[in-house]
Amino acid sequence: MKTLVVELGTRSYPIYIGGGLLESEEPLARHVAGRRVLIVTNDTIAPLYLDKVAGRLGRFAPATVVLPDGEQYKTLADLNRIFDALLTQRCDRRTTLVALGGGVVGDMTGFAAAVYQRGVPFIQIPTTLLAQVDSSVGGKTGVNHPLGKNMIGAFHQPRCVVIDTDTLGTLPDKELSAGIAEVIKYGLIRDAQFLAWLEGNVDSLLARDPEALGFAIERSCRSKAAVVATDEMERGQRALLNLGHTFGHAIETGMGYGRWLHGEAVAVGMVVAAELSRRLGWLGAQDAARVRTQVPTELDVNKMRELMSVDKKVEDGQLRLILLKGIGNAVISSDVPRAVLVETLKDCGAGT
Ligand code: NAD
Ligand code: GLY
Repeated sequence: MKTLVVELGTRSYPIYIGGGLLESEEPLARHVAGRRVLIVTNDTIAPLYLDKVAGRLGRFAPATVVLPDGEQYKTLADLNRIFDALLTQRCDRRTTLVALGGGVVGDMTGFAAAVYQRGVPFIQIPTTLLAQVDSSVGGKTGVNHPLGKNMIGAFHQPRCVVIDTDTLGTLPDKELSAGIAEVIKYGLIRDAQFLAWLEGNVDSLLARDPEALGFAIERSCRSKAAVVATDEMERGQRALLNLGHTFGHAIETGMGYGRWLHGEAVAVGMVVAAELSRRLGWLGAQDAARVRTQVPTELDVNKMRELMSVDKKVEDGQLRLILLKGIGNAVISSDVPRAVLVETLKDCGAGT
């Protein structure tokens, strides 16, 4: 088992990474605060892992809530299912919430923990690659609104993150690929050496080679932990982690939640960001080609512009984009000429 730490002073917490971590009570049980736990999961993951996790936490009389599976249920209305369970089970402030699932379950559980009785502790057990390398770390929690993705939320850090890499064994291929896009993101943003490693090892990742996956998860979590430690509330550098997200969120909202996987949308977003960076003269044609993937895009330029203006990364009416000034060197830019942006979107939409 590898242990990394997200350094946030008194709110620092460990990320445990390894195979078989859900086979024993430790390290999970150590981080339960209080006497009760409520495990939140969904109807896909429950038959796979709920009994196991509930068994490990047996001494905390675990209550459970099983949400419907899907991004389309990441809503305020569905969040109530968690509050209903907490209140019906008379859970008080000494209850720890446990998120067992992908990014949707993690974000919703974290948000419920942030606001239930003005804040209770929670633990992340991420079961998708995307959640293991990104969403479970860093304390961003929330739900979607019909007008924008993740628009309602809070920063609330977990007590720990338990990454049992064995859970990836049941993950559908499409979800694995979507997670690999998020792994590639770290290479593009701040770790050119890692990107080079990924280029040589993507087949091992797709084949679920445990060693390759373990290395990629650890390296990604290390990057995420370092960024979060320096800018927890996204006042500066943390925004770099949103490479591809402004475009990606626009795609997800525009196409309807659940139609595109988050990771797929981000992958397309990274391709658009790389292409825009190339047109601005910041990224070489060869490097832009390295970023390009085979993901098919259906981008409607007008819809994208409209949606990007409600994205929360827009500041003072200015579109703030994360672009690349070379591989491993992401930058925040607020002054991209509209014409270049529109041309890029048009060409990306039409050309693929
Ligand atoms: P997801 O949670 O919808 O999970 C994807 C699918 O895989 C679901 O059908 C799920 O039930 C299934 N699944 C999960 N684990 C499984 C397993 N081990 N075996 C079989 N099936 C399994 O999607 P995701 O990609 O994990 O997360 C996407 C969400 O994360 C989005 O809502 C996005 O906004 C959010 N996100 C949040 C952050 C953050 O910092 N908080 C960062 C990135 C993404
Ligand atoms: N996924 C972006 C962030 O956590 O900041």
